[in-house]
Amino acid sequence: MTKPLIRPRRLRASAAIRALVRETVLAPADFVYPLFVVPGEKVRNEIPSMPGIHHLSADMAVAEAKAAHGLGIPAVLVFGLPDYKDDQGSSAWDANQPVQRAVALIKDAMPELAVITDVCMCEYTSHGHCGCIKDGDVDNDASLALIARTALSHAAAGADMVAPSDMMDGRVAAIRDLLDAEGYEKVSIMSYAAKYASAYYGPFRDAAQSAPQFGDRRSYQMDPANAREAIKEVELDIEEGADIVMVKPALAYLDIVRQVKDDFLLPVAAYNVSGEYAMVKAAAANGWVDEPRIVLETLTGIKRAGADIIITYHALDAVRWLQR
Ligand code: PBG
Ligand code: ZN
Repeated sequence: MTKPLIRPRRLRASAAIRALVRETVLAPADFVYPLFVVPGEKVRNEIPSMPGIHHLSADMAVAEAKAAHGLGIPAVLVFGLPDYKDDQGSSAWDANQPVQRAVALIKDAMPELAVITDVCMCEYTSHGHCGCIKDGDVDNDASLALIARTALSHAAAGADMVAPSDMMDGRVAAIRDLLDAEGYEKVSIMSYAAKYASAYYGPFRDAAQSAPQFGDRRSYQMDPANAREAIKEVELDIEEGADIVMVKPALAYLDIVRQVKDDFLLPVAAYNVSGEYAMVKAAAANGWVDEPRIVLETLTGIKRAGADIIITYHALDAVRWLQR
């Protein structure tokens, strides 16, 4: 019998040696934790499609942000459910709505925690699209002003970073122009640069009550079949002034995460979206998978693919599991 000349198993022989040669190590600082804020006070209602994630009033969002901060997570991403909707989505830039209130309270309580806001119109428009409508289609250029105005209201509330998720052409430049004109040149932009029209957003649309009331998002979000187009989208957002570029969803698009990482020098964020989360939670609830192991394996895979930042609903659990 010839003996193997090379034995990769030597470096798997003990936990200590495996630790020495480990290439990808998750840390609390990798994560961004999303929060869903709603009107009212003392509200903390679990979202049925996303077990473990809650609708939080602004006061309770502060408590949840504190938990994240206490675990060493550097940032939260704030989504909001307004108390009124109209065809322009005007509650999106209303200073008295949940996002603006929560941002101010969180920054007040924890100035050192980074607060990022999702900037989009779909939670605020009566029709549920990510911009305003003209002739049955989302009007790109008219939507830009609404989106920029929303980002400005988040900056005014104290947001450190705004994250436009609408996929309108030119929105990064529109936001950058308005923020700079109003003296918010220090507020950064994390653009949802390569955001696909995905079935994985299903649970989120329940959570954010943002499902389109007619049609779908395929005239603005990307076709899942396209990779070269993702590179073009990222390039455009960088030219327009994005500071961080995001790929979303994460798991079915890890090739895109890797390509964006290799092709550009900006930090890359990947969004481990609601459907990815809900599938793991459902399987774990049935005892079909080992939740801590599958979550850490998944998040390691996203980081290994090239993500510098992982936005995930698992963030709090993941940090606790990393620590044991
Ligand atoms: C709003 C927005 C969505 C998500 C983030 N921002 C939903 C959508 O585009 O339909 C999805 C997040 C998730 O599924 O976790 N445009
Ligand atoms: Zn939207």
